[in-house]
Amino acid sequence: MLDFAIDLAHRAGAILRAGQERERSVAFKRRADLVTDIDKASEALIVAAIGERYPGHAILAEEGGAAAGAGEYQWVIDPLDGTLNYVHGMPIYCVSIGLLCRGELSLGVVYDPTRDELFAAEAGRGAFCNGRRLRVSSAAELGHSMLTTGFPYDRFSRADNNLAEFGRLLMKARDIRRPGAAALDLAYVAAGRSDAHWELGLAPWDTAAGALLVREAGGALSDWRGEPWRPGGDRLVASNGHIHAEILREL
Ligand code: IPD
Ligand code: CA
Ligand code: CA
Repeated sequence: MLDFAIDLAHRAGAILRAGQERERSVAFKRRADLVTDIDKASEALIVAAIGERYPGHAILAEEGGAAAGAGEYQWVIDPLDGTLNYVHGMPIYCVSIGLLCRGELSLGVVYDPTRDELFAAEAGRGAFCNGRRLRVSSAAELGHSMLTTGFPYDRFSRADNNLAEFGRLLMKARDIRRPGAAALDLAYVAAGRSDAHWELGLAPWDTAAGALLVREAGGALSDWRGEPWRPGGDRLVASNGHIHAEILREL
């Protein structure tokens, strides 16, 4: 199944890469939340391939491609994570394919077609980027750490929008980035390129694959209160483990 998911991520990524070269049709889901014909083409490819290969498996995909399924497996798909970057031509976006088995993270693949980087993890078997084993960073203090975060699309209408938390952590960390593709942010924690990612308002497809990458690279996952993070949980702190408690204190 991992080989299947990797091949699928490569094929969907090729659609995203090709789509950057031409005019795209863009529609609004809500303010600042866009969807393009490329999101839909990528999802159609992924959902059709899973349906053909594993007809009994359930599917949850961002743009509505769902299948009920009868067994223990559920695929959780973000066909294009980082749509706003994509629309603006900012080359930070990816495909995210996660697989749950009886509700537990089982495998995760995140593919960045702009750098041809394929991040993959299998529960209990480690995390890899283009075949190279990944480890989270060794940063031991928040003051020496680079963090990433994101802000929810409904931030205009909710008070609880991560601005206060961003302000506090910005004054404690070495610095913070807001790259704009949550699945890739998590892959970068797994790769030790950032020391932690925190966010609220996340959807299951933003986190399914990336969270497993972090766990398999030796990192820590929790909600904002420090309780164990569960697949689908919308508030996530994913870190190298060493700075987790310091981040929770600020949140
Ligand atoms: C979004 C990105 C963004 C995150 C948002 C997500 P989309 O996904 O991952 O970084 O901050 O919460 O919704 O809409 O580009 O697939
Ligand atoms: Ca998306
Ligand atoms: Ca997303």
